[in-house]
Amino acid sequence: MSGVFASGNALLAAAAEEPWHELSIFEPASPGGAAIVRLALLVLAVAALIFLVVEGILFYTIARFRHRGGSSDTPPPEPPQVYGSNPIEIAWTVAPALIVFFLVLVSARTLWEVNAAPATSRNVIEPLTVTVVGRQWWWEYRYQSYDGRKLAFITANELHIPASSPERSRPTRLLLESADVVHSFWIPRLEGKVDLIPGRTNQLWLKTDVTGLFLGQCAEFCGTQHAHMLLRVVVDSPEDFDKWLAGQALPAVDDPQQAAGREAFLSESCVNCHRIRGTTARGNYAPDLTHLMSRQTLASGIIPLDETNLRRWIHNPHDIKPGCLMPAFGLSAEKEELIVQYLLSLK
Ligand code: CUA
Repeated sequence: MSGVFASGNALLAAAAEEPWHELSIFEPASPGGAAIVRLALLVLAVAALIFLVVEGILFYTIARFRHRGGSSDTPPPEPPQVYGSNPIEIAWTVAPALIVFFLVLVSARTLWEVNAAPATSRNVIEPLTVTVVGRQWWWEYRYQSYDGRKLAFITANELHIPASSPERSRPTRLLLESADVVHSFWIPRLEGKVDLIPGRTNQLWLKTDVTGLFLGQCAEFCGTQHAHMLLRVVVDSPEDFDKWLAGQALPAVDDPQQAAGREAFLSESCVNCHRIRGTTARGNYAPDLTHLMSRQTLASGIIPLDETNLRRWIHNPHDIKPGCLMPAFGLSAEKEELIVQYLLSLK
């Protein structure tokens, strides 16, 4: 029980630090986000107008025909009985049909705007292409190519993309796949949601001029820890992004001081699921740990990544994320500490 409270507190603390208002679609930070807000407001205005007209007629009728006429001795006369009216029936069929047709047209245009590949021109560099794999309950990012260069590294849970500028457009193309069940990728300030479906590859374009952290959330129920499958997109300046790319492309640091810790990690079943490039750990089932400490959070964005949380996580992940697929291994205290110190060295 104490574990449940501890993780609850950690979550509250993390939530207090993060700008959660950033999940609002009404503060768009990209052309696609802005198009979606315009459409949402237009549909809201049309719906509000229809609501006002219908309620207006209803209340007018109630007020206007409140008195039934007649007196206590003579009952009121029957109101006129109307059987069908072609003009009225045509009106209430054609008017809604026209409204729906109009909404279909503007929705189709917005969909087109949001999904269209950016035009190729001298000012648009070759997109950053990343395959996103949704997994229970975290995100895998396989970096494929950028600016015509091939990339070949994998990271988890924190997506870095370059910011565009008025002179130079740097679009990001995400190829969305799933390793298990349906998930949904949603960064409200950047784009609409797109599902990740097993056996299928969906596509999503991201482009923004605004640097900083953008938050999101898996938007399709995908199991017990669906609510803890958070999304973090870091939009870097082009220079910072190049530096980040160069760092991620390197194999893991080989710190001689951590030899015992590395040995401990490699001798445990950690290696069956996790990968650390430059070592014999080649699992491809769990997050790549090559540059673990370059990330800000642990467990798909739910707690800050620091020594205390990392130790708690390795000791028993289910204290923090009940039901997650990583087991508690029951390591000796000594071995656990060696592994924690080794992982902390993976900058
Ligand atoms: Cu993944 Cu909900």
